[in-house]
Amino acid sequence: MSLNLRDVTEADLPEVLSLRSRAFGPLTTGDSGTWWERVAAETLGGRWLGVADESGALVGAGRIRPYEQAWGGRHLRMGGVAGVYVEPSARGRGVATALTRGLITRMGELGDVVSCLFPTTVSLYRRSGFEVGGVQQRTTYAGPTLRDLGSLTSRRGAPSPATSTPAAAPAGAPAAAAETSGRPRRAQPADADVIHRMLRDDAERHIRSGPMPPTVDQLRGMIERDELITYVTSDGVVIYDLASEAVTVEHLVATTPEAAARLWGLVGSGSAAVPTVHTYLDPRDPLTLMLGGLPAEDVRQVPWMARVIDLSAAFAGRGFPPLARTEVEVVVDDPEAPRNTGRWLLSVENGSGSATQVAASPDLGAAAAGSVDSAPAGGPAHVGARGLAALWCGWSTSRLRQAGLLTGGSPDDDAALDTIFAATPYLTEYF
Ligand SMILES: CC(C)(COP(=O)(O)OP(=O)(O)OC[C@H]1O[C@@H](n2cnc3c(N)ncnc32)[C@H](O)[C@@H]1OP(=O)(O)O)[C@@H](O)C(=O)NCCC(=O)NCCS
Repeated sequence: MSLNLRDVTEADLPEVLSLRSRAFGPLTTGDSGTWWERVAAETLGGRWLGVADESGALVGAGRIRPYEQAWGGRHLRMGGVAGVYVEPSARGRGVATALTRGLITRMGELGDVVSCLFPTTVSLYRRSGFEVGGVQQRTTYAGPTLRDLGSLTSRRGAPSPATSTPAAAPAGAPAAAAETSGRPRRAQPADADVIHRMLRDDAERHIRSGPMPPTVDQLRGMIERDELITYVTSDGVVIYDLASEAVTVEHLVATTPEAAARLWGLVGSGSAAVPTVHTYLDPRDPLTLMLGGLPAEDVRQVPWMARVIDLSAAFAGRGFPPLARTEVEVVVDDPEAPRNTGRWLLSVENGSGSATQVAASPDLGAAAAGSVDSAPAGGPAHVGARGLAALWCGWSTSRLRQAGLLTGGSPDDDAALDTIFAATPYLTEYF
């Protein structure tokens, strides 16, 4: 079967929706209008690729969602691969493989320097250089223990509701900026900018890797449409969803222990009606250190995969441990993203890094250009695209070696790579 990659256009939408129904089942009635329209608005015109067969009919499609994602506390452009589906009668003939490779090339053209996805099958994405990067973790708490945190703050002498900031700022005012302290109040559309900044600053302060802050427009739209419940204080924000069976916390930022206690207390305040609280936050959220109880034992984890699309730009944009000061050479072999292929000098100092290509692919020699298990003794460490993705996501070199994803190099090289890429990334949003 001859396959042709092309951009999905508006005229293709009915055909793509029909493909989607044959892959994932029909959209639910509530989704069919607005969700599909939002998908189209976000991805048509460059971020949606299709694969056509020899007759010109679309047999596969996939999208690249435009995200901003924290790596080492700094934000990079991340392409979130989603909506990959193939016509059932055309499966098993390389359609999804061709599509994935096309999406990788397109991300490079668009300036998305890393990519993540939630796979239904790892082998499809591994053959294109993605590797498991971490998990999205759902942690569950008992609402009453969160509620207790809130009352603890009042006992500590934090500003009481009666003496702190007024519960509501004037409509339309840049309310969060005017806030001085204290009691959480409902966010207004005008708070979107401040909330976005709080989410970004939080990632920087904790040197996080993985979280994707919504854009200002997304936050504003979400508040306008009353989609999620959002409360702000001068030193924090909480965004959560309330359903009959559970509260689900999507984001919580607090810059002081009092703000954390107040915002968690607010989430737990409805525990008489809805006692279960799920969170999709950092698995090591400091809430665990404050709570007078333990999270529930049943934790749900959804693995995700990542890929480096543009090593040079991604490395220069990422943050690194502030005291890391090292450099190391590594050879990368990445046929699907050829600009990553070469011998690189990775240097890190003062929390910033640079990746300089010291030899492009033709100069690597036979061993380097081949598979990673052919690295010559005494030379630099070698990785393929999967090894690079795993390193990027903080898998230690010892683990990579055990999985056969890293060869060559010396113990000193391993120590340097481990120092540079130390991170425990996690995703909070499923896409
Ligand atoms: C998964 C899907 C996209 C694969 O499409 P495809 O065109 O058949 O994939 P390819 O022919 O390029 O196969 C690539 C590799 O993917 C893996 N793969 C494909 N379908 C698979 C399945 N059902 N289970 C496990 N692995 C599978 C195989 O490793 C395959 O390699 P192989 O043929 O050498 O064994 C397609 O089956 C589909 O549309 N499924 C329903 C929707 C879905 O799951 N989408 C993926 C979202 S992340």
